[in-house]
This record gives sequence, C-alpha cells and structure tokens, in this order.
Amino acid sequence: MTEQSLPAVGITGVGMAFPERRLTNADLERMVDTNDQWIRERTGIRERRIAEKGVPASHFGALAAQAALADAGLEPSDIDLLVVPTVTPDMLFPSTACVIQDKLGIQGAWGFDVSAACSGFLFALQAARAQIQTGQSRRALVIGTEIMSSIVDYTDRNTCILFGDGAGAVVLERVDPALDGIIDSINYIDGSGGKHLHMKAGGSLHPASEETVRNKMHTIYQEGREVFKFAVRGMAEVAAEVVERNGFAPSDVKLLVPHQANLRIIEAAQRRLGLSDEQVVVTIDRFGNTTSASIPSALRVARDEGRLHKGDLVVLASFGAGFTWGATLLRWVRD
Ligand SMILES: CC(C)(COP(=O)(O)OP(=O)(O)OC[C@H]1O[C@@H](n2cnc3c(N)ncnc32)[C@H](O)[C@@H]1OP(=O)(O)O)[C@@H](O)C(=O)NCCC(=O)NCCS
Repeated sequence: MTEQSLPAVGITGVGMAFPERRLTNADLERMVDTNDQWIRERTGIRERRIAEKGVPASHFGALAAQAALADAGLEPSDIDLLVVPTVTPDMLFPSTACVIQDKLGIQGAWGFDVSAACSGFLFALQAARAQIQTGQSRRALVIGTEIMSSIVDYTDRNTCILFGDGAGAVVLERVDPALDGIIDSINYIDGSGGKHLHMKAGGSLHPASEETVRNKMHTIYQEGREVFKFAVRGMAEVAAEVVERNGFAPSDVKLLVPHQANLRIIEAAQRRLGLSDEQVVVTIDRFGNTTSASIPSALRVARDEGRLHKGDLVVLASFGAGFTWGATLLRWVRD
C-alpha cells in the first residue's frame, strides 16, 4: 500500500495538565547564581510548573489524557492503544503506559512507552498513527508526560533554569480522508550526539550506587552550547523538509507548534519558514521545557486561544537528546 492509499488519521482531541506550583526566575535567583534578565534573554523562560515531591509522571499524564478524551467526546473504553513518550517514567518498569491504562480503567488495550526525549511526542505520534493506518488499532492516546524536576540538579545553573513539569495528550483516530489529518512525518536519530546531553546512571550501564548518587549521575548533564548548535539547524531544517517534500510552500503553513526548548531555537525555525509571530505557538515563557509534554500542551494552548481552525496546515517540530529530531505535517481536523 502506498502512503496515499492508507486511511487518514488525525488528532481529534487534545488535553493538558500542569502542577499548580510555579517556580519563577526570581525563585531561581535565590537558589543559584543567575538572574531573571539572563534567563529571559537566553531562553525566553519566565516561570515553570513544578510538581509536589512524590507526584509521578502518570498523575499528570492521566489528567491530560482525560482532558483529551473529553475534548474528543470519547470515553476511556473507546481507546485501544496508549503510547507514552517520557524520560521521567514513574519507574523503569512497568511502563507508564501500563500505569495510566490502569488509572483510566481502560480494558482490552495495549501500549508502551517511547524514549526519544524532547522528540518523544512526535516519535510516539508516528508510531500510533502507523498502528491505526494499518488497522492494528482503532483509537490511540498519545500522552507526553514529564516530571523533569525529578532529574534536575537544582544546584546546576546551566540546566535547572530550563525544565518544567507537566503533560499533554492527544487522541488519534481515523478521520474523513477529505480532511487529510496527519499528512507526513519525518524523524531522525543520531546517537553520536548522546555525549552532549544525557543522564548517565540508573540504567544497566551505571546501576544506582552510592557512587552514582555522589557523582550526581542521576540528573541531567547538558553541554548547552553544543546542543544549541545542532538544535537550531536540526529543527528548522526538518520543519522545512516536511513542508517541501509534500509539495507545499512555507507560505501555506498556518501554524508552527515547535518543541519548547529555547525561544532562540524556535525563532530559527520561524525564520526558516518565514512565519510571523502570530503563526508560532510559544509557551516556553510560562512552562519552560517540558520535554515530551511541550508539543501536545502547546497544541492545547493554541486551541484554547482560538488559533487552530479546521483545514489549517500545521507543522509540529522537535529536537532533543539522542540526538533525536523530527517534524510532522498535518491538517487540523476539528472545528
Ligand atoms: C542552555 C542554554 C540556554 C545556554 O545558553 P547559551 O547562550 O548557550 O549560554 P552558554 O552556555 O554559552 O553560557 C554563556 C555564559 O552564561 C553562563 N551561564 C550559564 N547558565 C547561566 C545562568 N543560568 N545564569 C547566568 N549565567 C549563566 C555560562 O557560565 C557562560 O558564562 P561564561 O561565558 O563566563 O563561560 C542554551 O545553550 C540552550 O538552550 N541549549 C540548547 C538546549 C536544548 O535545546 N536542549 C535540547 C532539547 S531538551
């Protein structure tokens, strides 16, 4: 079967959930040697949400999933696939997909977690879409959820200013082919970038030990400048690639919903596509970088702000640890 002859699959519901507690730049000034102006100018972030200690990723993931189901007018029993991109699963196993399936009381479904860091949502979206296109599943929840505060070293000013907690989720199902839904998805990995951004311990390479804790190997390590160089080019190029290989011009694009890692990385993609500020969804100011939750939650923000209209051509784009990067082109199918 050619891609064209496969059934159309679209996003029919979108939800998000965030902790109440805000960690502002002023709060961080009291914790590390930083200042509000530096953080705003270098990243675009004003504040982020932080979960209470002990609240796991599945908590906000389940809430975001419920919101997405309500938005789609569906019940948990309508779902037969859960895909959960996350770098902060409740536990290494069982998967957070299993935990959320149980919390939502979904029966007869299957599902799994996806590890692709900040590109997790787009990778998971493509995996779920392929399942539905091939008739293996009927309706999927794709739930990006993160408790980034659980792996951030709040004494490291290079990383602690960047990340926030929260979740975003979408419902994916077959749609009228005339509406298109998701048109194309291009995704890449390049493991040679792993040295610049990783969390070393807690897996089979460095199981947890007194030494790994003492050496702070259970928190994020990032060479920001290196990652920035790849991210600026990677996200902008793949966003343009998915538009052009489908015969569209950048001027056809109505809205760009990028991963929210740094406002300057977002602006590079905006420039590459020649979009106005109104055509780019920015939520990093209020939520920071929420890794796999950033794109689905930004979609929900755009929807709440009335910036998504039926038939709009939308580009989702990401770059993250791995390195991983990708872009998805879709038509919004909801009123
Ligand atoms: C992390 C990031 C914001 C840092 O911004 P930057 O402009 O690259 O800044 P640099 O790392 O070059 O640091 C510049 C200076 O600011 C200092 N600095 C770093 N963090 C600081 C902070 N929170 N407050 C004040 N100064 C800080 C550095 O020590 C450095 O000082 P020096 O010049 O005396 O050595 C940026 O590199 C970035 O966003 N990287 C990509 C992140 C990303 O996309 N990750 C992948 C997806 S999760």
